[in-house]
Amino acid sequence: MERLVSNWYNHRALPESYICPPETRPGKLSIPSGDTIPVVNLGEALINRSNTILNVLRASQKFGFFQVVNHGVSEKVLNDTMNVVEEFFKMPMEEKASLYSEDPNKVCRLYTSNINYGTEKYHFWRDILKHHCHPLDDCIKLWPQKPTRYRDVIRTFSVEGKKLGLTILELLTEGLGLESGYFKKDLSEAMLLVANHYPPCPDPSLTLGLPKHCDPNLITILLQGHTFGLQVFKDGQWIGVQPLPNALVVNIGHQLRIVSNNKLKSAEHRAVTNSKVARTTVGLFISSSEDSIIEPAKSLTDAAQPPLYRAFRYKEFLSYYFSMMGDTELALQPFKLPFNQSVIS
Ligand code: OGA
Ligand code: NI
Repeated sequence: MERLVSNWYNHRALPESYICPPETRPGKLSIPSGDTIPVVNLGEALINRSNTILNVLRASQKFGFFQVVNHGVSEKVLNDTMNVVEEFFKMPMEEKASLYSEDPNKVCRLYTSNINYGTEKYHFWRDILKHHCHPLDDCIKLWPQKPTRYRDVIRTFSVEGKKLGLTILELLTEGLGLESGYFKKDLSEAMLLVANHYPPCPDPSLTLGLPKHCDPNLITILLQGHTFGLQVFKDGQWIGVQPLPNALVVNIGHQLRIVSNNKLKSAEHRAVTNSKVARTTVGLFISSSEDSIIEPAKSLTDAAQPPLYRAFRYKEFLSYYFSMMGDTELALQPFKLPFNQSVIS
């Protein structure tokens, strides 16, 4: 519990154990202004669905990242969610102590840094609240009891966020030419909520809130609030994701990259810190259940476009992914097929 950054950040200089190796440091933090993450107006789907499909598809192919506006999740739900999660992190330590755990198997827990504080080479400037959202009626009983509105507010956010995720997946289904409802059942059955809290940091140039990674799941919906901090790695450069009022950030995870047989991109991203204000983000990670089989969609592969990955259970991938954290291509390696295998056989 003492390890939580929010417990000690305001009375200590940046500890040496939080300094990243020079090659991964954010440095000056100047963000190139050229390329920006596409913003898709989902409301347009009612009038011109094919154009919206094209926008979502292009963004997923080129960036693996986009923001959505007019997405159907109300401003009130977004504000309530951000407020209740910020309130959670502001509560005195005694109120949160029972949720603190360094056991990754605990289904609802408060922890700090990244995957394993005890074994990681250096730490990250982040506290995390993570819990399952499916099946909702079972896991809601394990969610924080304080703030008292937490369960109500997050129930609504998770239901609406899931609905939005499925809407975006259906647009991608049409765009890729898959059969309607392809992602609706097993592939999107599960969902995790991860709330990240990055307290103000004494030296944002030397440390990271979250290291470079791709999300392992199907698709992620992130409420990032008003504070800058999320960056996407594109064509060898970091580009910033501008906080936009009432927008949600969407990114493609490894599962969707694999099912789409690399037609969609799972983009590398990270979070930097700032010295002025705390930043809080709330992510919904939609995925298949851990026992589901993941493989490239049959209708997207043929002799000319052989499957690039073998079939595997999601849990097999997850455990490998966590052991390879930080290295995107290595995490995918044991699941890749030699490019021309099915042409030869
Ligand atoms: C994540 C993530 C980004 C952010 O939780 O996987 O990428 O800005 N978060 O908090
Ligand atoms: Ni992420």
